[in-house]
Amino acid sequence: MKTKIQKPRSLVITAGPTREHLDPVRFLSNPSTGKMGFAIAEVAAKRGYAVTLVAGPVQLATPKGVNRVDVTSAREMLAAVKDVLPADIFISTAAVADWRPKHRAAKKLKKHEMSATLELVRNPDILKSVTCDFKVGFAAETGDPSAEAARKCRAKKLKFIVANDVTEQGCGFGTATNRVTILRADGSVRPLPLLTKRAVAAKILDEIDGRRK
Ligand code: CTP
Repeated sequence: MKTKIQKPRSLVITAGPTREHLDPVRFLSNPSTGKMGFAIAEVAAKRGYAVTLVAGPVQLATPKGVNRVDVTSAREMLAAVKDVLPADIFISTAAVADWRPKHRAAKKLKKHEMSATLELVRNPDILKSVTCDFKVGFAAETGDPSAEAARKCRAKKLKFIVANDVTEQGCGFGTATNRVTILRADGSVRPLPLLTKRAVAAKILDEIDGRRK
């Protein structure tokens, strides 16, 4: 009798900030620490997913069983994601810099070589530009996240979006906890209580696995 070996479901996830350099010692970035994305990668690997984690510059250890690709800029992150897709699921937790300096100097710029105005150009929207049947986005908002999150969900063709108000205590950048609302493209809204980021990760994977409790 032949035993059918089931291939594990594949999951690609981005995490952390991106850095957009204007020279080797200066860059634009944000305070993302990558904790939420790493927590999802860890829980997903424990559940048997084949996980690839595309990480911006963060100070976190690679979760057990996770394949990690390190990148610096948004354009590098996009290239790395395209490289590792296709996958069954794509989750975008990265705080991708929307803009980058128009010019990047190869050597450290001297003060007199710089102007008071920095010219910027748009970065690619990674989540919007990649194709995957099951895409999940994050929306960090300052204020009630619901309206903006629903719009992003439609615009980026997401199964659902995980929204949080980063100004709320115990939420957002660098915290060990998070209080999020899961908004589906069909308009359903599921607010979750304040939980550890690992517990939030488990809830997000329950939502993906159709094991919503
Ligand atoms: N995202 C991305 N690439 C970008 C910007 C955002 O992949 N260049 C992803 C984020 O990882 C997140 C989602 O898109 O999953 C929402 O990001 P956010 O910056 O909050 O939304 P924007 O669509 O950029 O809208 P706005 O800046 O107007 O709030």
